[in-house]
Amino acid sequence: MTILVTGGAGFIGSNFVHHCLGQSDEAVVNLDALTYAGNLGNLARWAGDPRHVFVKGDIGDRALVDQLLQTHQPRAVINFAAESHVDRSIHGPADFIQTNVVGTFHLLEAVRAYWMGLAADASGLTPPSQSHFRFLHVSTDEVYGSLSPTDPPFTETKAFEPNSPYSASKAASDHLVRAWHHTYGLPVLTTNCSNNYGPYHFPEKLIPLVIHNALAGKPLPIYGDGQQIRDWLYVQDHCSAIACVLQSGVPGETYNIGGWNEKPNLDVVNTICQLLDQMRPRSDGLSYATQITYVTDRPGHDRRYAIDARKIERELGWRPAESFETGIRKTIAWYLDNADWVANVTSGAYRQWVDQHYG
Ligand code: NAD
Ligand code: DAU
Repeated sequence: MTILVTGGAGFIGSNFVHHCLGQSDEAVVNLDALTYAGNLGNLARWAGDPRHVFVKGDIGDRALVDQLLQTHQPRAVINFAAESHVDRSIHGPADFIQTNVVGTFHLLEAVRAYWMGLAADASGLTPPSQSHFRFLHVSTDEVYGSLSPTDPPFTETKAFEPNSPYSASKAASDHLVRAWHHTYGLPVLTTNCSNNYGPYHFPEKLIPLVIHNALAGKPLPIYGDGQQIRDWLYVQDHCSAIACVLQSGVPGETYNIGGWNEKPNLDVVNTICQLLDQMRPRSDGLSYATQITYVTDRPGHDRRYAIDARKIERELGWRPAESFETGIRKTIAWYLDNADWVANVTSGAYRQWVDQHYG
């Protein structure tokens, strides 16, 4: 059997490819446009393994997606591909609309045609059967908007109130996915996850940026007062949750995924500094916390996200394996061991973008 993964050269997608290829014999077709955020180095360990078929291309390229679906006959399509960084969406929203909204639309249409074709092949000669096929759309808690300190965590029934161009584009894609189920019967699953962290996280996002900047002797930028709250989930826990939803989720349902790890940004940064002080002390004996620098806040910055993950726990039996304390230690160890990866992904196109926007 085969699954088609989109965006599988990015942070979460590549961790998911590792998860799949490491835990089953199933083949993975990996469609990724290799934007600045996609790195084949994330997948180096599968080079030469015939179960991993990498295809460079766009989810919005209908002819390409049609051809991949017909050739590989996947039992499932998992859509990770997206523009994912809120700051970038503020600087330039067009790519977010193009990939996250228009791209998802074209992908859904290709998948719908493929899925309908499976009905015609129901003679049993062409795997998989139409009834077993699934389209799983990976989305974010940011679609729900921002919480006050006393609000309960987001449940799956919370109204969408996206506040950034990124979250608005993801909300739009979630709505398309919902409509393709409601109108056409496409067997979709949607997951809305909190902030991930772990290996292969691009160092533009808070946790890898702070680790990278700390080691490079650069400022650790805290937006505003640093009291914004995020709910952190170790990426491999996210991958196990997606595998669980793919296996047992009910078509048409959405599942929140979170780690019950709400933390203010400043606490996260201080924790990283304390761990780095132990694991790779500065040569001058000072704490990395001396590099913390308060900077202008992100426009429209959401104050708090928190996920109520009781539905996936109750209905599908999934729980995260890592606490924040164990996950962040593993993450820092990975970055200390993979300085070459960081140097590689922070050169080239990424460097140009930073220079262009931040001088
Ligand atoms: P990422 O930016 O690290 O990776 C995105 C990948 O998609 C890259 O490999 C990129 O090359 C690829 N891509 C972009 N546009 C494409 C296109 N048009 N066609 C094909 N491939 C394309 O993102 P991530 O952090 O791994 O996030 C993956 C998914 O999970 C996204 O949908 C994101 O919205 C969602 N999500 C992320 C988080 C998080 O904390 N990172 C949390 C919840 C949900
Ligand atoms: O909640 C899920 C979302 O988490 C995903 O959908 C997004 O794809 C992912 O990028 C992430 O979005 P955030 O905006 O929460 O992540 P980021 O790492 O950019 O920022 C985390 C918090 O840290 C946020 O409150 C902004 C703040 N921050 C970020 C950076 C990069 C800083 O204070 N300083 C920084 O330099």
